Amino acid sequence: MRILSIESSCDETAAAVVEDGRKVLSSVVVSQVEEHKLYGGVVPEIASRRHAEAITGVVQEALEQANMTLKELDAVAVTYAPGLIGALLVGVNFAKGLSYAAGLPLIPVHHLRSHIASNYITHQDLEPPFLCLIVSGGHSHIVAVEDYTKMKIIGKTHDDAAGEVFDKVARTMGMPYPGGINLDKTAESGNDKAFVLPHPKVSGCEYDFSFSGLKTAAINIIHNAEQKGEEVNTADLSASFRKAVVDCLTENFLKAAKDYGYAKLVIAGGVSANSLLRRRLTEECERLGYRFYQPELKLCGDNAAMVGSQAYYEYLSGNTASLDLNAAATMSIEKG
Ligand code: KG4
Ligand code: ZN
Repeated sequence: MRILSIESSCDETAAAVVEDGRKVLSSVVVSQVEEHKLYGGVVPEIASRRHAEAITGVVQEALEQANMTLKELDAVAVTYAPGLIGALLVGVNFAKGLSYAAGLPLIPVHHLRSHIASNYITHQDLEPPFLCLIVSGGHSHIVAVEDYTKMKIIGKTHDDAAGEVFDKVARTMGMPYPGGINLDKTAESGNDKAFVLPHPKVSGCEYDFSFSGLKTAAINIIHNAEQKGEEVNTADLSASFRKAVVDCLTENFLKAAKDYGYAKLVIAGGVSANSLLRRRLTEECERLGYRFYQPELKLCGDNAAMVGSQAYYEYLSGNTASLDLNAAATMSIEKG
């Protein structure tokens, strides 16, 4: 089954053609990062407008690269939630138009479910059940993936997401947007013991996260130094901060795996590109005898190949939409 998939939930306009959920025939991603850099973060209105400009060309390119016409497709899939509402609506409306014009089924895909599916492309043998740590700019979840379309949230953040705090601390240190990747690179040459930072726990919810106190502690170090006219060693602060975030993510994830009896662990989302998180979980899983799966780097960020992969499994479980499909800014991964 060949699916044309579309993604426009944040600041990447993407389209792909994916066969039977696992084989990527084409994947095109047009990023708006350079424009949002000017403002230090994503400006929703600008994001929507750029999606509207780019989407036709991106879809055409995806079809051309796959050497395919609309007639050779079996379905159209689109990210419909969660994300920036104006951005999502561009993709949803485009997909509805295509589905209507070509007479193809329309498959709605949850953004975080698609992040998980980036692993089905990277690891052709990977199948549920497994435990997944999903860490992106807007979410930090520990999810029991019982089946391709059956998920249960075991832990989540009570405030900021991991990607969000990486971006905010990086911005305060003067790094360009998106800060997460820059902070990660800078941290490689720093001393992770140079600054003592809190490792917040959420009382009564042992698998949940809270990152806002940790973020404030790091930002206060920068502001205090500025007030005293001192310079903060950004490599050391990046390394100490990255370690604190990765400690929290790893501890809760491994605890959940042990308590729920999962020996197959998966990571997904933009922050799954973090080099320390990848190294740490590789080592820990080896030590504990768990199987560990991570998406290839080019599939960690937003793309449409992962949407096409998840869409196949949504279709198999009967999840198609009618032409009154709407976008939603928030939506639980459990509801999908
Ligand atoms: O999944 P994603 O591309 O978009 C959302 O769905 O939010 O995630 C983007 C997030 C951003 O906060 C970005 O800074 C972060 O992922 N990120 C990283 C790294 N690469 C991307 N955070 C830490 N280390 C990285 N190497
Ligand atoms: Zn994402």
